[in-house]
Amino acid sequence: MVRHLITIDDLSEGEIQAIFRLADEFLKDLATAETPHRIRGRKNLAGDFILATLFYEASTRTRFSFESAMYRLGGLILSSADPKTTSAAKGETIADTVRVLQNYADVIAIRHPCEGAVRVAADYADVPIINAGDGGHEHPTQTLCDLYTLQREKGTLRDLNVLLWGDLRNGRTVHSLVYGLARFGARIIPMPAEGFGLPEHVTRRLLRDYDCTPLTNDEVVKARGDKFPVDAVYVTPEKPHQRSLFSDVPEKGSEILGVRLPPNALAKIDACYVTRLQRERLADGTVVDSSYPVIDAAFLKDRRYKSSSVMHPLPRVEELGYDLDNDERAVYFKQAAYGVPVRMALIAALLKIRPELLAGPAPTKKHLPYTKGTMACENTKCVTGLASEQRYLKSHFLIISEEVRLLARCQYCEHEMIPEFVGRQSTHKFEPNRTRWETIPDDILLFADEESALRFGCSPYKKKGSA
Ligand code: NCD
Repeated sequence: MVRHLITIDDLSEGEIQAIFRLADEFLKDLATAETPHRIRGRKNLAGDFILATLFYEASTRTRFSFESAMYRLGGLILSSADPKTTSAAKGETIADTVRVLQNYADVIAIRHPCEGAVRVAADYADVPIINAGDGGHEHPTQTLCDLYTLQREKGTLRDLNVLLWGDLRNGRTVHSLVYGLARFGARIIPMPAEGFGLPEHVTRRLLRDYDCTPLTNDEVVKARGDKFPVDAVYVTPEKPHQRSLFSDVPEKGSEILGVRLPPNALAKIDACYVTRLQRERLADGTVVDSSYPVIDAAFLKDRRYKSSSVMHPLPRVEELGYDLDNDERAVYFKQAAYGVPVRMALIAALLKIRPELLAGPAPTKKHLPYTKGTMACENTKCVTGLASEQRYLKSHFLIISEEVRLLARCQYCEHEMIPEFVGRQSTHKFEPNRTRWETIPDDILLFADEESALRFGCSPYKKKGSA
């Protein structure tokens, strides 16, 4: 059975820890005492294998560290760093490219500007596919490097306070990272640039799927004595925990039950994760004001940052001061160096050079798949909207049941839509999406609007007695 890494949820917590232990082993064997974070020399573990790196978007760290990792495992690489030089420039689809490439390589790392594009590749491949960043969706291998850095710096991930700065809306590294932090029990404190907060579907998912609870500013005051200039700190209750109850999705505010934070729990920030404005993801003509946060030595003088590790996935532009480079809290170059041992361990796991690391099936998705084709993903950056891919690709969703409505999560880009109407194939009736479903029937139909329900041949459901 082939394992892929498309989102951080494709690995269990145990598997992530096993990958980290192997990365530790590689560092122990190959790093020198002067630079204990840096791999030197090579192993003879992957001599029979070839890694292909297929990059349709700019990259320095991710591609070079993947290639360095493969060389240092003793393997070989095939590399395409410029989409103009592959048949994508002639209009070849992702599905075809990957079915050809798997004849030439044993594992393929792909970066693509469209959200969900690497999932499409995985659906058509019989060799492991690694997501090296798909548009603004996810960047799971960067998250492995980020969590590994945090664990090495702090000794644990549990109960850490991690501040996230910058463009949280478009930063794919942030999207994978928040899920990873939540799963390992760290507290997430989003500090977005104005207008660049976490996407709504990401916060909704943090609450629903990752047992996070948002603390309001009043609750932060109780836990640390003064305020953060943010609306919510996401807390992951200890397991087994009493699931927090909230009256509605986050924008409506929340009612917190079952969160017990020790006094002063938020007084110290363990890590500041800084990100650049993702200019390439903004619509043409978007004006960004000058208030984009800049983290520098002066900013970090506050006592709460005394022992904060300063992290950045890099590249930096203006948001991170060069005056921090010699500060011992700055760990961003170490974080980039860890890209090699972590990716070596991941490749060794996926290629079953170390078969015990990913021995079981991928963690299961707990939601019901929906493939009836009655709705298209509304995310304009989703791969399902690409004309080339529409020749063969249909929108597929997972159905998520929330209190009194159903949501549809695109299986590719993972955006969540709220269908306006739901129907049943057996009755050909539809009604507004305002029902509490104990179990979701197999013949459920989801419709973005009334017109598409009527077009599908359904008629409105009328309650007895209604006109
Ligand atoms: C990040 C990316 O490509 O998403 N870079 C990286 O892979 N280390 C972050 C960024 O480009 O801002």
